[in-house]
Amino acid sequence: MAKTFAIVSQKGGSGKTTTTLNLGASFAVRKLRTLVIDLDPQGGAAYGLGLKPGDYDAGVNDLLQGRADIRELLVPSENPYLRFIPAGRFSNVAEIDRFHNLGKRLSLLRRAVMSVRDLCDIILFDTPPGENSLAVSAMNCADSVIIPLQCEPLALRTLPQILRLVREVKTKVNPVLGIEGVLLTMYDVRYNFTEQVTEQVWKNFPRDLVFETIIPRREDFSKAFIQGRPAVFENPLSPASLAYLQLADEMIARLAQNMLSVPSPIA
Ligand SMILES: Nc1ncnc2c1ncn2[C@@H]1O[C@H](COP(=O)(O)OP(=O)(O)OP(=O)(O)O)[C@@H](O)[C@H]1O
Ligand SMILES: [Mg+2]
Repeated sequence: MAKTFAIVSQKGGSGKTTTTLNLGASFAVRKLRTLVIDLDPQGGAAYGLGLKPGDYDAGVNDLLQGRADIRELLVPSENPYLRFIPAGRFSNVAEIDRFHNLGKRLSLLRRAVMSVRDLCDIILFDTPPGENSLAVSAMNCADSVIIPLQCEPLALRTLPQILRLVREVKTKVNPVLGIEGVLLTMYDVRYNFTEQVTEQVWKNFPRDLVFETIIPRREDFSKAFIQGRPAVFENPLSPASLAYLQLADEMIARLAQNMLSVPSPIA
C-alpha cells in the first residue's frame, strides 16, 4: 500500500511544487509507482509537467463535486512510473473559492485516495501555502508531512505556524499523521542568512525531523519548470536533480528501516 506524503508550508514560494515534482520524478526514476496529486488551484504542478488546461478535462475539484471517479483523473507522464492528478480547471475566483470550501469534505477525498493506494508505492500531495482547508485535506489523507523551508529568516519565522497546524490535524482528524521532515531548500552560501537559518533549524529540531539532504538554490529548477519538465527528467545529472534523487534515496532508506523495525506478529 502506498506511503502518502503531504508537502506543506506556511510561506508561499518555499519550494513545495518544485519538491513535489522533483521528488515524484526521483521516485519514478527509482521505479517506484508514484502518484502526484495537486490540491493547489494555482495549478503549478500541471504546468511543471508540461500540461496545459486543454490537456485534461477534470481534476480533484470534480472529484469533490461528485462529478468524477479518482481513477478517471489519472494523467500519465513521460515516465511510466509517474502519474498525476490535476487540481482541476478554474475559470474564475468564485470557482477557486468553492474549491477551497470543498477542501472541507475531508472524508470524500480520503476515501478516494484510499481506493487507489494499492495501485501506487508513493503518493505526494502538492498544497497551497498557509493554513487552509486544502492543506488540511492533504494532511488528512497522509501518513506524514514534508515541510520545505526556504533558507531565509521569514520562512523560519513561519515554521511554528505550520507545525501547530500539523499538530491540530493529528489531534482532531488524522491520529497517524507524522512529520517526515523539514527540508531545507534554496540553500545558497552567497546569502548571509542561509547558514544562520540552517544552524537554527539543526539546533532547534530533533535531528531525525530534518532531512540530511539539502536542496541548493539552482537556476535549473526555474528553467526546467518553464520547459514543463521536472529538473530530474530534464537534466538528471545536474547538482539540482542529484539533490532530489538523494532525498528520494534518503526517504527510501528510512521506509526500509521502518519496515524492518515493525515487530513481526510471530516474534
Ligand atoms: N532550489 C531552488 N533553487 C532555485 N529556484 C527554486 C528552487 N526551488 C524552487 N525554486 C523557484 O522558486 C519559485 C517558487 O517555487 P515553488 O513554486 O516550488 O514554491 P511553492 O512553495 O510551490 O510556491 P506556492 O506557495 O506559490 O505554491 C519557482 O519559481 C521555482 O522555480
Ligand atoms: Mg506551489
